[in-house]
Amino acid sequence: MRTIDSLDVKGRRVLVRADLNVPLDGDVITDDGRIRASVPTIATLADRGARVIVCAHLGRPKGKVAPQFSLAPVAARLGELLGRPVAFAEDVVGDSAHATVEGLADGEIALLENLRFEPGEESKDDEVRGAFADKLAALAELYVGDGFGAVHRKHASVYDVPKRLPHAAGGLIVAEVEVLKKLTENPARPYVVVLGGAKVSDKLGVIANLLGKVDRLVIGGGMAYTFLKAQGHEVGKSLLQEDQLDQVRGFIDEAAKRGVELVLPVDILAATTFAEDAPYEVVEATAIPADREGLDIGPKSRELFASKLADAATVFWNGPMGVFEFDAFAGGTRAVAEALIAAGAFTVVGGGDSAAAVRKLGLPEDGFSHISTGGGASLEYLEGKTLPGLAALED
Ligand code: 3PG
Repeated sequence: MRTIDSLDVKGRRVLVRADLNVPLDGDVITDDGRIRASVPTIATLADRGARVIVCAHLGRPKGKVAPQFSLAPVAARLGELLGRPVAFAEDVVGDSAHATVEGLADGEIALLENLRFEPGEESKDDEVRGAFADKLAALAELYVGDGFGAVHRKHASVYDVPKRLPHAAGGLIVAEVEVLKKLTENPARPYVVVLGGAKVSDKLGVIANLLGKVDRLVIGGGMAYTFLKAQGHEVGKSLLQEDQLDQVRGFIDEAAKRGVELVLPVDILAATTFAEDAPYEVVEATAIPADREGLDIGPKSRELFASKLADAATVFWNGPMGVFEFDAFAGGTRAVAEALIAAGAFTVVGGGDSAAAVRKLGLPEDGFSHISTGGGASLEYLEGKTLPGLAALED
């Protein structure tokens, strides 16, 4: 992959595809990690005299203009973090975008409105996507792919535009790929992967692939209940994906065959309802009462999981252990994060919720070797899939 060092950007219009998909509460950004991670490439290009046109998506407005998904608050935050103005175009490829781009002087920066307001961005029809990519590419002379969190999407701004413009990978993508390569090519052992989050179905591919690679697989969060059920235990009202039970039984057998240690919770915080202040009790993972739902792993599980991380040389962690957004049920996620920090291993936090949890819980970001900006993207990379946004940058 070419890097931005190979591009002569001075005085040229450079379209940067960033991932600025941050969580919002109204128009307040609750975690600006992805914006911060995007700053270095944008700043470097501007310092080198480029006219920087940033494009990104926010949420899933599905091809329609929806004010609650406007990138306007992100433009403001990006400007604060860069310490320089960021012009905001009120559309993606329309009059406002053209006028904003024409108004840029060397070293100045603009952000286009949410790419996903345009149906062409995500279209499955190559022609429709291509027609939108033509318009986007027409705004610029060069393209820099730096939205690591979106490289698993075959979208116009990620996949089709780099086919139309001279291109390079930004510093964030280069850094993310370097780390993920370390995990896939000869990781230091023991190699332990911790997976959590709500849905086992989101992680099927990665589990199947990791069973051939890891020494230990630790499963917590909502997906653990499908594993417990597959082992024959009742899980009460906890999250359960009945349709995945056979697949999960297959994973349990495969892990045993391959000598991969599979670690599941041994106790659970079982609540009467899904609420911040729900009454709860600690129960054995094998005896969750029928009228309760598990909202976090219990104290014995936290100790167990920490002990399984203590001797690790490489750790990849994706997905919270419980409903960390509720203080009462954040303890399991905190315990795993703290165990990673204590492990003295090469530790990678894989995107999305786990990265947000690290920041929400006030844990030191430099306690980890790398916090990825990609949730789905890092999982698909570990699955061994070809990621369209990376493939396009390789060409
Ligand atoms: C993410 O949040 O993982 C990326 O920004 C991609 O978003 P998406 O899952 O809506 O495509």
